[in-house]
Order: sequence, then structure tokens, then C-alpha cells
Amino acid sequence: MQKTKILIVDDDPFVRDMLAMILQSGGYDTETAEDGEDAVDKYASAPDTGLIISDMNMPGMNGVELIKELRKNKVDVPIIILTGNNEISVAVEALNSGASDYLLKDENIQDTIMLSAEKVLEKRQLEKRNVQLMTDLAVKNEELEQSNTKLVALNALKNKFLGIAAHDLRNPLTSIRGLSEILLMEAFGPLSDEQKEYLGTINTASDDMLSLVNDLLDVSVIESGKLDLQLKPGSLNALLESRVRMNKVVGERKNITLRTDFPGIREAVFDANRIAQVIDNLIGNAIKFSPSGSAVYISLSEDGNAATVRVRDEGPGIPAEEQSRLFGEFQRLSVQPTGGEKSTGLGLAIVKKIVDGHQGTLKVESEPGSGSTFSFTIPLGG
Ligand SMILES: Nc1ncnc2c1ncn2[C@@H]1O[C@H](COP(=O)(O)OP(=O)(O)O)[C@@H](O)[C@H]1O
Ligand SMILES: [Mg+2]
Repeated sequence: MQKTKILIVDDDPFVRDMLAMILQSGGYDTETAEDGEDAVDKYASAPDTGLIISDMNMPGMNGVELIKELRKNKVDVPIIILTGNNEISVAVEALNSGASDYLLKDENIQDTIMLSAEKVLEKRQLEKRNVQLMTDLAVKNEELEQSNTKLVALNALKNKFLGIAAHDLRNPLTSIRGLSEILLMEAFGPLSDEQKEYLGTINTASDDMLSLVNDLLDVSVIESGKLDLQLKPGSLNALLESRVRMNKVVGERKNITLRTDFPGIREAVFDANRIAQVIDNLIGNAIKFSPSGSAVYISLSEDGNAATVRVRDEGPGIPAEEQSRLFGEFQRLSVQPTGGEKSTGLGLAIVKKIVDGHQGTLKVESEPGSGSTFSFTIPLGG
């Protein structure tokens, strides 16, 4: 490694030589100057100098004036001031002018000069490293920001693409589903068993595709921040009653009973279509993942500032380590539908965003073997 260069400035040749000897024996390279002007010149011809040690009292420029001259020229090399004068005011003046340290020329100079030089150089080293680290950090931050901007743009593009694709698929799918239904009703003449079977398949497949497309459309709308809720005061009781009536039919197909407990509560402010979607998803899951013959319990309660809707099932429950993934997109966990139903892993992600949009909370309590309870709240205000 290259030795650090130290410039010694003193009008007394004896002091210069003594300090040079001490510092050389400590492993430093030295250069000497006999006054301030000489020091400015010497520094200019060797700007890699790591430290200047200067006497305070010299003919011409004194130590403090030397510091000011160097600083004026934007030289920020550390400077140690030496003096034979034990006056605190001189020390203060030197330090205030930008000296890194202040030393007395006394009988201990041999030790103090080495310690001070080491300390000042080490501090400078740390400062340089700090500046380097800050610069690196700023560069990294800049890079991060740039890739973040890119990601945000790409994500918006993905949502747009998803939205367009889903939107354009929806109309033809609706036609396929509707027309197959009409044909199945034998509105245009009797069908053979085979024709009925194929039309049935077309009908179910288009129905499944339509709900997937609808979910994808929801995800793209919600993700692009365009979920505008139509908030209106309304009765959660009435909404729950009607959603349960619809879902009862689905439950019956799997011999699953829906049991309700809906004490009357005061009106809440919510988007009826979106909250219906939340309720349908939770009841739908409860039915989808529960065994035949079990029951699903749906309840409503009012506690303080919020209404809570709970959907409890007697299904297999959800392993604790999987629960954190429940509300993410496309998350299908180890629990699988019990009746061959479709599963995309989008339902709960949509539910979570709708509930969040209502400033509500969505919770799950579940233990393998003892069913699951999904609940959400809607603030009642006042
Ligand atoms: N009531 C429930 N009981 C057990 N597992 C559930 C229940 N609800 C959801 N899950 C698990 O969480 C996953 C994600 O649910 P969801 O987002 O509604 O998607 P999907 O219904 O399309 O599978 C499901 O695939 C299932 O593994
Ligand atoms: Mg679901």
C-alpha cells in the first residue's frame, strides 16, 4: 500500500526535521514547507497529500490563515495545528477555522503527533467511505425507482390487456350460454339424448368460462384502481336474506343446509352488488369445500360501530401455514372442492378488495378438522 503523504509546515527547521523523523518512523511519507506560502505551493504540486501539520505562529501567513487560504481554494485536506502557546482561544480559533485537531509543542509531542495523525486520518477515511456509501445508495435508489416505474407501467398494461380480453370474451360467451340454454329447452324441436348431452356440456363450459372471465374483469378493474363503489344506505338483513335464498339451491345439490341467524340491525352504507358478490363468494366457498350432509351457518351481528357477517362451515378447515395466502390472486390451497366444482383462486382476492374498499375488515378463523369461519365487517358510523 502507498504511504500517506504528510506536509509539515514550520518556520523552525529543527521542529520540521524532528516531526519529519517521527512521522517517517511511523510509516508516513513527509514533505516540509517553511511558511504558509511555501505550503500552498507544495500542496499544489502534490495534491495527493493526505494531511497537513502546520505551526500556528509563523512569519507571513499564520496557521489559521493557511487553513483559510487552502479552504478558499477548495482544498479539504485535514489539517492539524501546532502551537507553543497554551491558550485556549487559539485552539478554539483553529478548530473553528476548520482544523481537525490542535496540539501543543511540548515534551510529549513525539507521542501526541502520532496519535493525532492516526486519529485524523482514520476519521477522514471513514468520512470518505461514508460519502462513497451514500453515493452508492443514491445510485441504487435511482435504479430501484426506475425499475419500479417500469413495473407499475407493465402492471397497468397487464390490467388493460386483461380487461380488454375479458371484456371482449364476455359477450360471445353470454350468447353461447344463452343459446345453448334455449336449444336445451327444446324450443326448436325435440333433441336426441346425445344432442342434449353435448348441449349440456356446452352450457356448463360456457357458464364456467363466463364466471372466470367475470372474475378476471373484476381483478383488472380493481387492480387498476377503478373499483368505484356505489355506496347507498341499505339493509344488510334484506341483502343477506336474498343471497341465502339464491345459494340455498346450490347447497341443496350437495345436501348442504344453510342455517341463518339474522337479528335486525340498523341500516348500513354499502354497494349492494359488490357486497352481494362478497356474500356469494363466502357462502359459495363454504358449500364448495364442505362435505355432503354438513351445514353452513350464516349470521349477522351489530357490535358498536360495525356490522359483522359471519359464514361458518363444517368443512376440512385451512392449515395455518396456508392462511396468509388465502387473499392473494390465483391462490388455490390444499383444500379442494368436494363436488368437482371449478376453482380459480380469484374469489377471495376480489372479496378482500371489495371489503377493503368499504373500509371493512376481512378475517378468517380456521383449524384443520374443525371448519372455517370467514367474517367481514362494514363500518356503521355514528
Ligand atoms: N371455506 C373454506 N374452507 C376450506 N378452504 C377454503 C375455504 N374457502 C377458501 N378455501 C381455500 O382457499 C382457496 C382460495 O379460495 P378462492 O379465492 O375463493 O378461490 P376458489 O374458490 O376459486 O378456489 C381455495 O382454493 C381453497 O383451497
Ligand atoms: Mg371461491
